[in-house]
Amino acid sequence: MLKATGIKKAYGSLPILKGVDFEVQKGEVVSIIGASGAGKSTLLHILGTLDKPDEGIVELNGTKVSKLSGELLSVFRNKNIGFVFQFHHLLPEFTALENICIPAFIAKTSKRQAELRALELLDLLGLKDRAMHKPNELSGGEQQRIAVARALINSPSIILADEPSGNLDSANANALHEFFITLRDNFKQTFIIVTHNEDLAQISDRVVTMKDGLII
Ligand SMILES: Nc1ncnc2c1ncn2[C@@H]1O[C@H](COP(=O)(O)OP(=O)(O)OP(=O)(O)O)[C@@H](O)[C@H]1O
Ligand SMILES: [Mg+2]
Repeated sequence: MLKATGIKKAYGSLPILKGVDFEVQKGEVVSIIGASGAGKSTLLHILGTLDKPDEGIVELNGTKVSKLSGELLSVFRNKNIGFVFQFHHLLPEFTALENICIPAFIAKTSKRQAELRALELLDLLGLKDRAMHKPNELSGGEQQRIAVARALINSPSIILADEPSGNLDSANANALHEFFITLRDNFKQTFIIVTHNEDLAQISDRVVTMKDGLII
């Protein structure tokens, strides 16, 4: 479902990605590991259309994303790609439920429909009773699970996560990892996860190692 070919990226005169080829099948959980500075986040941003490569092609479900820009690209990204970062980036003045709904509102889903789906996701995450709480009234693990629900609200083809459990203790990290696997098993959800967590890499379908701007 996702295919990247010959991805190159430099910052100034410094080459960061040196020709990365990478494919992901639907329903696969792929972990990307590698030393700090190897180019993992840079690659993830390019796969997620948040950044453009200098060279190379990214195709998602047959769409060449480099051909999209502006409003078209934003709409495509909002519908097809969910993001989870190391820090949850929930908006502090909104409740958990509202935070989850925001990408759906951007996609012009009705309030009723968005909230129904958000409540379904909260239920799946065992967090229904936290719906009306604001982020600062939630634990770190709960905040991160809310961020995952937000990534899922538009039923994206793929979820890209950059060190999603990097900020969690091991119990919360395990709960999050199990949730990813549940989503794959029950909904064929596809994931690309950049991680330093060995447990997460181990339960993935495939582990890809990056070194000095290349997949090795
Ligand atoms: N906007 C930028 N401008 C200049 N250099 C950058 C920029 N973003 C990243 N880099 C450099 O590119 C290299 C790869 O960065 P990247 O964030 O992709 O690494 P990473 O593999 O995700 O590392 P980590 O595991 O520490 O998160 C690093 O040397 C970094 O300093
Ligand atoms: Mg990184």
